[in-house]
Amino acid sequence: MCGIVGYVGFKVASPFLIRGLQQLEYRGYDSAGIAMLCPNEPIRLAKVTGRVSELSQMVQQSSLKGTIGIGHTRWATHGAATKENAHPHIGGTGQVALVHNGVIENYESLKSVLIAKGYQFRSQTDSEVVAHLVVDRLKDLSEGQSEVTVQHCVEAVQESVLQLRGAYGLLIMFRDFPDMLIAVRCGSPLVIGVSKQEQFIASDTSPLVGHTDRIIYLADHQLAVIRPDSIQVLHRDHGRIRPEVRQLSEQVQESGLDGYAHYMLKEIYEQPQAIRNALRGRLDRDNATAHFGGLNLTTQQLRSVERIVLTGCGTSWHSALVGEYLLEELARIPIEVEYASELRYRNPPMDPNTIVFGITQSGETADTLAALREMKRKGHHTLAICNVIGSSIAQEADGGIYLHAGPEIGVASTKAFTSQLTVLTMLALYFGRLRHLSFEAGQRLIAQLEKLPELVERSLECHTLVKQIAEQYSDATNFLYLGRQFNFPTALEGALKLKEISYIHAEGYPAAEMKHGPIALVDEHTPSVVIVPQGPVYEKVLSNLQEVKARSGPVIAIVDHDDPQVQRLADSIIHIPQCEDFLQPIVASIPLQLLAYEIAILRGCDVDKPRNLAKSVTVE
Ligand code: AGP
Repeated sequence: MCGIVGYVGFKVASPFLIRGLQQLEYRGYDSAGIAMLCPNEPIRLAKVTGRVSELSQMVQQSSLKGTIGIGHTRWATHGAATKENAHPHIGGTGQVALVHNGVIENYESLKSVLIAKGYQFRSQTDSEVVAHLVVDRLKDLSEGQSEVTVQHCVEAVQESVLQLRGAYGLLIMFRDFPDMLIAVRCGSPLVIGVSKQEQFIASDTSPLVGHTDRIIYLADHQLAVIRPDSIQVLHRDHGRIRPEVRQLSEQVQESGLDGYAHYMLKEIYEQPQAIRNALRGRLDRDNATAHFGGLNLTTQQLRSVERIVLTGCGTSWHSALVGEYLLEELARIPIEVEYASELRYRNPPMDPNTIVFGITQSGETADTLAALREMKRKGHHTLAICNVIGSSIAQEADGGIYLHAGPEIGVASTKAFTSQLTVLTMLALYFGRLRHLSFEAGQRLIAQLEKLPELVERSLECHTLVKQIAEQYSDATNFLYLGRQFNFPTALEGALKLKEISYIHAEGYPAAEMKHGPIALVDEHTPSVVIVPQGPVYEKVLSNLQEVKARSGPVIAIVDHDDPQVQRLADSIIHIPQCEDFLQPIVASIPLQLLAYEIAILRGCDVDKPRNLAKSVTVE
């Protein structure tokens, strides 16, 4: 939800802090700030409401210096996007500065106690409470002592976080210790880039690229004391521990725009390659099946699975809906799809032979993480379908499958969605071939999957036409997206793409459902995108298209063949290549992504950083 960076070493800290925040801006971009420190000087702040680029200009014009610093780019949870609410926050009268990612649920009661003790609050945030709490504990711990020590600082942080309820990733700087940072994590990610004479801290690995390839993922309830030449890690319950230093995966390459106007457009066009990455090494032609290395279930256990729960949020929940059709159709396994935010609080009766897949691009979505923890607590094997190696969900699940789609920076998910569907298709093949699916059926499926990157490349050829169509409809205020069976989730995903980057209200529906109310919305100002490829329900969807036209609703038809009826009825027609129905959601979502992108551009929206959104929703 927010992006955190920190540096302690021998260079001036601000270049790393600013560049790091730019790479984390996809996590939240309401406001940004940094704090830096020189020995025997007060902590200095620079904060803006708005983008990191504005902060960068401010810092360049300031006299901020120092070889230690922390930074933050914010997605507001408590308090509007103002300078006062921007991080870093100062504790006490300047003894500490901290940045926070997460939500402190009991901050109001803690704040009341601190106010009663005379602490002056400058912001409305929960994070500032922690800053004053640390100072308050530091005062108590060092009272009567000749000096404040590092140990006092460590204990002050440890005692402070014990009072917190909620999720946090904290990075804390101390005025009197200009060569030390303390990081502590519970629920919000923090990773440390390890080097001999300088250390780098960030919310994820992207800012570390180019600085080090050795990293430490801080785990929940771990605290790190970070100095230029040393890192000590303490666990809340086990004391001093030796942290695992990992190799920064090659997947986290410095991802630039490579000439594209936006990350979203780049990632739309990366989909053929992302799908190749998802397929690579997983198709077993000799046995007409697929293979996954990380499910951590024996063949016997896999065969005994009697139900599968698929859970996620947003686009990942749409992937789960497609997964339901896939696994029921190809593997004949009963599937439940659940919003993670609902599942975590429900208590559905589930038989012991139920396994749970959490579907997530970031691996940090709080609701998905919480839902998987709840399912694990009830004894179910949990698996992650995830794009970020080493993310919280990837680490906590009992196993899983990585997408290998490469970093997805654009807030609107595109290549992760089609990669998730590719993995789910292979999973359905795998389960199916362990049960009833024939060798020939498996071979046919593999042949279709091997053609998929080329099908997506051909689907991208509609871009010029989509751009023209976008010009006709960019002023609309409402859209309907209609599809059936495998393409009902496609309709939902197309609607989500449009609304989240163009801010136009759009709703996806099962095409037949239109008659039960939504058709009242249809008029000449409300375009309907109808996904109507050939298949068992083609005629039915065609009837729904006619029902829209009968009410003067403009129709944008997504088709995979020429049909005079559609040509007569539809106002715009976008062709996609023909494929099996279970692959249509992947192929049909390409024009829908492009339509949303082009309309958003015409409306002057910030495609990569849409208002009010963040790439990874790590709060509940
Ligand atoms: C998708 O375009 C959105 N950005 C959002 O719905 C996203 O899919 C959702 O927040 C889940 O994120 P995750 O896949 O990283 O868990």
